[in-house]
Amino acid sequence: MSAGRLLAVAIALGSQLGCSVLVHPADVHVAWATPRWPDVTLAELAQGRTEYVDHCAGCHTLVRPEAQEPEHWPEHVSEMEDEQGVKLTADERQHIVRYLMVASAIPVVPKD
Ligand code: HEC
Repeated sequence: MSAGRLLAVAIALGSQLGCSVLVHPADVHVAWATPRWPDVTLAELAQGRTEYVDHCAGCHTLVRPEAQEPEHWPEHVSEMEDEQGVKLTADERQHIVRYLMVASAIPVVPKD
């Protein structure tokens, strides 16, 4: 994707999300995630954010991660696959679910 296109997507996303930012994974998210998934990395969560934007904005505006309880995200993603025909690889599903769960639990990175 070109930089211009990325910018357009970012602006579109900003407006869809009421001008707030879809949280970028940070160390605080990795700390939340590690007890659940010992193999989790910051890179994986960042990948999940990208894949969420790429795969989940086609039919409706992106649902804010914190609009759903963290524990409910796996079933929402499965529902999209089973009932809406969304095609994800096993890796993509894992990245997206992990990103949505951490972003739901911590929608804003605390300032220190
Ligand atoms: C092919 C179109 C399509 C794509 C792509 C899509 N969705 Fe959906 N999504 C829908 C439709 C249609 C509904 C409303 C369905 C309903 O209410 O039963 C919906 C509803 C939802 C809801 C509301 C709660 C629910 O489960 O009904 C959530 C959350 C959601 N989608 C998440 C996602 C995520 C995460 C992705 C990416 C993995 C995604 N969607 C990709 C079609 C899509």
